[in-house]
Amino acid sequence: MITKNIEIAVRTLTNGGLVAFPTETVYGLGGDAKNSLAINKIYRVKNRPKDHPLIIHIADKNDLPLWAEKIPPEAYLIAESFWPGPVTLILQKRKAVSALLTGGQNTIALRVPRHPMAKALLEAFGSGIAAPSANKFTHVSPTNAQDVDEELGESVDCILAADSACEVGLESTIIDLSTNIPKLLRPGMIKVSEIEAVLGRFVVKHQNENMPRASGMHQLHYAPKTKTHLLSINEMQDFLTQNNKCWLVLLSHDLKNLPPGKDNKNIQLIKMPNDAYNYARKLYQTLRAVDKGEYQHIVIQKVPEEEDWLAISDRLTKASAGR
Ligand code: TXA
Ligand code: MG
Repeated sequence: MITKNIEIAVRTLTNGGLVAFPTETVYGLGGDAKNSLAINKIYRVKNRPKDHPLIIHIADKNDLPLWAEKIPPEAYLIAESFWPGPVTLILQKRKAVSALLTGGQNTIALRVPRHPMAKALLEAFGSGIAAPSANKFTHVSPTNAQDVDEELGESVDCILAADSACEVGLESTIIDLSTNIPKLLRPGMIKVSEIEAVLGRFVVKHQNENMPRASGMHQLHYAPKTKTHLLSINEMQDFLTQNNKCWLVLLSHDLKNLPPGKDNKNIQLIKMPNDAYNYARKLYQTLRAVDKGEYQHIVIQKVPEEEDWLAISDRLTKASAGR
C-alpha cells in the first residue's frame, strides 16, 4: 500500500510490518528495531546477508543512550552540528540491544534523519526504526516512492510516499566513533573536512583490515544491471570507437568536452548537473531509469577529483565494478 498517512505507517510498524519511508538521503526499509521478527523480515525482503548490520533511526540525539553505551563527547559534537541530517554514527552497542541489528558486532549505527516524514514517523512511533536503504541487496538505492514500489512491490507492507524525490540522493556519511580514532566508513554529502572542523582533529579516511564490516564497502553494491563503465574523457574515445555498433547511454556533466565519438546515433547522451549537490540528487534516479532501457552499456564520465565529489565518485566506482 502506498500512503501519505503517518498513522497507517505507525500501525504497520507496531504490528511488526515493514514500512518504506523517505529520508533526506534515500528511502529506508523500516521495521521496529525492538521486534526481531520485523528485523528478520528486513533481511529476507532485501535478500541481505545476516552479517551486514542495519542503521537504527532515532528521533533525537537524547535517545542515543537507549542504544549505545560509552558514548564519547565527540558523538554529541557531531550530533549537535549535523543532526537531524545525513550523518550516521557508529558507537558501542548497549549489551541489551539485539545483535541481530548489528550483524553480530558490538557496535551499532545510529542516525537522526531530517526528512519531515521520517521525523513525523519517528516521533509518532516513539522508538527506534531499523532501516537499511529500500533496495534489494546490491541494487541501487531508491530515491522516490515509485522506485521503491518497483523495487520491493508487495514485499513491503506500506510505502510512505513523499511529494518529491529525496533531497540529498546519496546515503549518509558514516563515521565510526567506537574507538579512540574517528574513522570514515562511507563518504556522503556531509564532507569529512566538515566533520574534522567540528571535532578539531583528523578523521582516518582509508580502510584497513581492522575496520568493522560495512556493507557499503562491498564492491558490488549500488550496481545497475547494465554493464557500467566509468571513463575519463581520454578513455572515452577508444571505448566509443570499439563499441560503435552498440546501444550506449552516456552520462556526462561536461558535454562540451566529450570526444567526437559521442555523435554516433546509437548513443543517447544524458546531461548531468555540473555541481556535486545536484549531481548527487539526480544520480540514482538516472541510473535506475537508464537501467530499464535496452542499452548494452552505461558509460559515465569520471567526475572531478575534489572533496565535494568524493561520495559521488565512490558510488560511481561501485556502480562500475560490476555485479
Ligand atoms: O542514508 C542512509 O544511511 C540510508 C537511510 C535509509 O538512512 N541508509 C542506509 O542503510 O544507507 P544501508 O543499510 O543501506 O547502509 C548502512 C551501512 C552499511 O554499509 C552497514 O554495513 C553500515 O551502515 N553499518 C551499520 N552498522 C554498522 C556497524 N556496527 N559497523 C560498521 N558499519 C555499520
Ligand atoms: Mg544500502
